[in-house]
Amino acid sequence: MASRALGGPALPLANGLSIPVLGLGTSHVGGYSHEAVVYALQKCGIRHIDTAKRYGCESLLQKAIKESGVKREDLWITTKLWHSDYGYENTKQACLESCRRLGVEYLDLYLVHWPDAQVPGKSSREVRAETWRAMEELYATGMCRSVGVSNFLINHLEQLKEDCEVTPHVNQVEYHPFQRPQELLDYCRSRNIVFEGYCPLAKGEALAHPKIIQLAKKYDRTPAQICIRWSIQNGVVTIPKSTKVERIQENCEVFDFTLAEDDVAILNGMHDGRHVSWDPTPIV
Ligand SMILES: NC(=O)c1ccc[n+]([C@@H]2O[C@H](COP(=O)([O-])OP(=O)(O)OC[C@H]3O[C@@H](n4cnc5c(N)ncnc54)[C@H](OP(=O)(O)O)[C@@H]3O)[C@@H](O)[C@H]2O)c1
Repeated sequence: MASRALGGPALPLANGLSIPVLGLGTSHVGGYSHEAVVYALQKCGIRHIDTAKRYGCESLLQKAIKESGVKREDLWITTKLWHSDYGYENTKQACLESCRRLGVEYLDLYLVHWPDAQVPGKSSREVRAETWRAMEELYATGMCRSVGVSNFLINHLEQLKEDCEVTPHVNQVEYHPFQRPQELLDYCRSRNIVFEGYCPLAKGEALAHPKIIQLAKKYDRTPAQICIRWSIQNGVVTIPKSTKVERIQENCEVFDFTLAEDDVAILNGMHDGRHVSWDPTPIV
């Protein structure tokens, strides 16, 4: 782990910023809890919040951040561009609107949410490139302190390399014991793209697995803590989501124990390729 910043260990980005390795997920799936976000910020030292236009809670987050009393400069805020806003002009407008809903003047990280563009008459590659040129501009103006992608596979990243200038700072991808895309992770590392994992608990599915329950017993931890710790030990930024304060607390208590190498290997061996969210493989 390179540094400690913004309330916990952080990983360095290619542009010199540091992203806190543990963030708080938010989402439209399973609801939004104002109490949980305020608790995470006030009581658990969480300084990294992951959201998206798609989740519909950017304005609600503005209220929670305000109530928490945590200063803007002490927070890492990631939000995402939804595909209905792809394209050069729309992207710039969508970023402004996300900032307005969040009540901020800049984003720490803005991600292109999904590689499929769904624009009639244009290939997704063409639209991704047009969109990325706007992201590059948002980065150059400082409105986005870093820019990245989400759910991009190696082929999408290779195309972007041919079509554009700035290498994404981050790729946010599904990552939990059943879904460990090692080739993509190695590729991202080779290009200095920070790998961020979403659905670290496999939306709860991983928590009932006998091997994970066994490891939880061994370390006197919970299955959720085992999964989150495993992501962190693999050098992956992780953003578990919960709407319950007691689980938020639990999910943050992952910096005072270490999984032995053999146990990391057990978890690494559980990959079966299943997705609990989206599978971007068919998208060209
Ligand atoms: N870029 C993308 O395309 C993308 C896609 C999906 C997700 N994400 C991001 O990743 C974040 C996390 O993903 P996710 O919410 O889908 O999955 P997740 O974090 O793997 O799992 C969340 C689920 O686990 C439960 N849970 C949380 N902590 C728990 C604990 N300690 N014990 C037992 N159950 C627990 C939650 O229920 P309760 O609320 O009832 O606690 C919820 O049902 C999202 O919030 C979002 O920010 C990004």
